[in-house]
Order: sequence, then structure tokens, then C-alpha cells
Amino acid sequence: MSITNKLTTQFIGRNIKWYKAIDSTNAEAKRNTDMPHGTLFIADMQTNGRGRLGREWTSNDGKDIFMSLLLKPNVSMEKISKLTLVAGIAAAKAIGLGCGIKWPNDIVIGTKKVCGILTELSNGNNAICGIGINVNTDVFGNELSDKATSMRIETGDFVNREEVIAGFLNEFEPLYELFINEGFGALKKNYCDMCVTLGQEVNVIYPNRSFTGRATDINDDGELIVETCGKDTTVFSGEVSVRGMLGYI
Ligand code: BTN
Repeated sequence: MSITNKLTTQFIGRNIKWYKAIDSTNAEAKRNTDMPHGTLFIADMQTNGRGRLGREWTSNDGKDIFMSLLLKPNVSMEKISKLTLVAGIAAAKAIGLGCGIKWPNDIVIGTKKVCGILTELSNGNNAICGIGINVNTDVFGNELSDKATSMRIETGDFVNREEVIAGFLNEFEPLYELFINEGFGALKKNYCDMCVTLGQEVNVIYPNRSFTGRATDINDDGELIVETCGKDTTVFSGEVSVRGMLGYI
């Protein structure tokens, strides 16, 4: 398979399951937690793709990347939940094109989203890290056209999905090992350098309340620090949606 011969990894993506169509690669990974650590589930299309906060993640047949990594880290649940930030750094590096990270884990080019990440915990110590990258979709429907872009739209050219997938896997493995051994603090500079949320006026939206402030920092646990009238609030990624005051970023 042409992904495998581009890999420089030891265990990430060394076992690959590729489907023409599936409900969701995250759901498939959850059904197959007996597979080895680092197994990658990829689909050409998803019929029930899921995003953060219960949203839908739509799919164009064969054009984009829908993939999930099955990981078996031997660390606390709290630490597992930060894997999403690690995947964000790897995705941003693999996509290139001057993209940035909108905290916690939307990859954006300018003001539009090119990639989303959904990390879920499964039975035992399993983590499923699902990554959706808009690669070759050339037109988005009305609802998404203001908010979404693809690598093809940005470059004007067809993009080889397998190269992007291999690029992601090669970036992810060393970051993952650093994160497991030393914690998010060891990756913080890397993350902050790409984070477009820092320095912005943001609206922090919880399910039942919201507040505004200025995003000033990300701490060693990957949480966002938002300052309002001289007072800092630590924002945990779980159920929150962070929007810039002037739009999505
Ligand atoms: C988000 O930005 O809301 C997260 C989107 C995550 C989408 C990916 S596509 C592969 C994997 N399978 C899913 O059902 N979701 C993730």
C-alpha cells in the first residue's frame, strides 16, 4: 500500500484498515479495540461521521480524509483527553499551507476550517483519535462555504491523500512519544506557535452560559487562559466552543 512505503514510524499506522464506506471510522475503531496500538482506520466516505459537541461531519465520496487512530496509552483519562492537541499539531504540520490551530483542535487556513479532530475514550485505556481533513472537495454547500475550505481550494491543485495521511502519521509518532513521556508542556511551544486563538478577543460558549475575554495563554495542561477585566479563567476543552468576536476564528 502506498501509505506504508512512505512511513518512517515504528508503530503508528503500521496496521491499516481501509474501507470504501463505513458509518464512522471512530465507531469502527471502537468496535475493534483488540487491534494493535497505532492501528489506522480509513474510509473513502462515512455515512454517519461525527464531529465535536455532537455535530455531524459530512462526507464527499473519495475526496477527503476520514481516519481514526486506535491508541492504547497507559496514562490517566485526563491525560488521554489531551491527545487531541497532539493530533492538532501533527495535522497542522502535515497540511502545511500556512494553516493554524484554533484552540483546541480546529485546523484553519485564514478564517476557514480545513480539518477537525474528535478524540474519544473507549473501554479500558483506549483512545480513538479521529481526524477529518478536507483535501479535494472543491465546492462546499451554502451552509459551509463561509466556514470551510480544502487543500485543493487553497492550492488550486489535486492533492494526493496518501501523502497527507503518511505525513500526518510521521509527524504524529514523535509528538505522541514526547507527550506520553514528558507531558503536554514539552509540546506547548510547538502548539502555541501555531495557535491562532492566542491574543484574540473570544466568546467562550458553554452549554448553558457564555462569557467573553481575551485569550492570553495555554497552560502546561493544554487549557486556554482567558482574561476578563484582569481576572484569568481556565477553559477546559470538553464542552466548550470558542469563537472569535468577529467570526469563527
Ligand atoms: C470536529 O471538528 O467537530 C471534529 C471532526 C472529526 C471528524 C473525523 S472524520 C474521521 C473520524 N470519524 C468520525 O466520525 N469523526 C472523525
